[in-house]
Amino acid sequence: MTLVLGIETSCDETAAAVVEDGRLIRSNVVFTQEELHRRFGGVVPELASREHVLGILPAVERALQTADARWEDVDAVAVSYGPGLAGSLVVGVNAAKAMALARGVPLVGINHLEGHVYANWLVKPDHWRPLTPGGERRTPAAPMFPLLCLIVSGGHSELVLMKHHGTYEHLGRTRDDAAGEAFDKVARILGLGYPGGPAVQRAVERLRDPKGNIPIPSHLELTRPWLRGTHDFSFSGLKTAMLRLVEGGGTSPVGNPSPLSRVVAAPGSPATTDPSRETCQLAAAFQEAAVDVLAGKTVQAAEQLRVKQILLAGGVAANKRLREVVLARSKAPVLIPDVDLCTDNAAMVAAAGYFRLQSGHVSGLDLDVKPNLRLA
Ligand code: KG4
Ligand code: ZN
Repeated sequence: MTLVLGIETSCDETAAAVVEDGRLIRSNVVFTQEELHRRFGGVVPELASREHVLGILPAVERALQTADARWEDVDAVAVSYGPGLAGSLVVGVNAAKAMALARGVPLVGINHLEGHVYANWLVKPDHWRPLTPGGERRTPAAPMFPLLCLIVSGGHSELVLMKHHGTYEHLGRTRDDAAGEAFDKVARILGLGYPGGPAVQRAVERLRDPKGNIPIPSHLELTRPWLRGTHDFSFSGLKTAMLRLVEGGGTSPVGNPSPLSRVVAAPGSPATTDPSRETCQLAAAFQEAAVDVLAGKTVQAAEQLRVKQILLAGGVAANKRLREVVLARSKAPVLIPDVDLCTDNAAMVAAAGYFRLQSGHVSGLDLDVKPNLRLA
């Protein structure tokens, strides 16, 4: 049995986790800084790093305790070293280095995006199969290669083909805003508060009828940015279209005069606790267009490449509508982590660390943070 301690501090979650054999979550501790950043309407890097400094050791201690593990049981330390905020990454990387050095165990630097992908390998304790008569614990089947992974987070939107562990062939990426960034900006435009993705989803869910449909008036239908002939995405046009609709007087991208006139919410303005039906419809118009493109392009690429499975990863994969549309349209089996494993956590880092270790990958103590690291 191999226990990997995972550490994640790339943005605004201070997280530590213990994962057994790359799959079984023994503990998964996440200290979120949501409240701290809420009044600024976004993450304030300086505040985030200070909070990581305060939280990292308690998070690790709690992760070990919950896992019922001692320091001697830890076989390796895996840590996100990029992409992310430099001042935030530095806290996790330095803590991980100190722990690996003190315990004499390997240090494994992990690309945060690779971590998101490996959330799909994780199994929660309540999903462990019972012990077989021979004493062997059975875990659910792992993802199967070749697979297509849609990684959609606050900073990235990428479509990658994975033929083996740790190899990523880039098919497409966003040409402007990341999917999560677009959700966050639209939430801000609509005065729905921070963090934006869940706020947009909540507003849209208010419209859902008993049959599960989300009615959107035809004048709010947004033109989809298909970028045909490529696997790339673009979301800034949708955001601008929303802005025009909200500001009123402009025209929607389908050419109809906007019937709505509204003041754009200032950054950090309090969340609308009870958004109007119109606001919910605007949120739905955006979400439906974004989800249509994300799901449509993913399913199309999966069919072209004849992959065995589709994986979703990253914070936006927590989106209820994206999950249901991809599941409904794909002929290939779709794997999606539980919602709490889509957003930033350290169990995904530990899982990725285990598979990196298996392929002989170990980092030196000179590991540095790479805020702009790409998935290679
Ligand atoms: O992966 P993540 O936790 O952090 C990054 O690596 O960026 O992703 C955060 C992003 C944010 O933009 C957030 O608004 C979005 O994921 N997000 C969602 C949902 N939950 C989180 N977007 C849409 N629907 C959600 N339910
Ligand atoms: Zn992330």
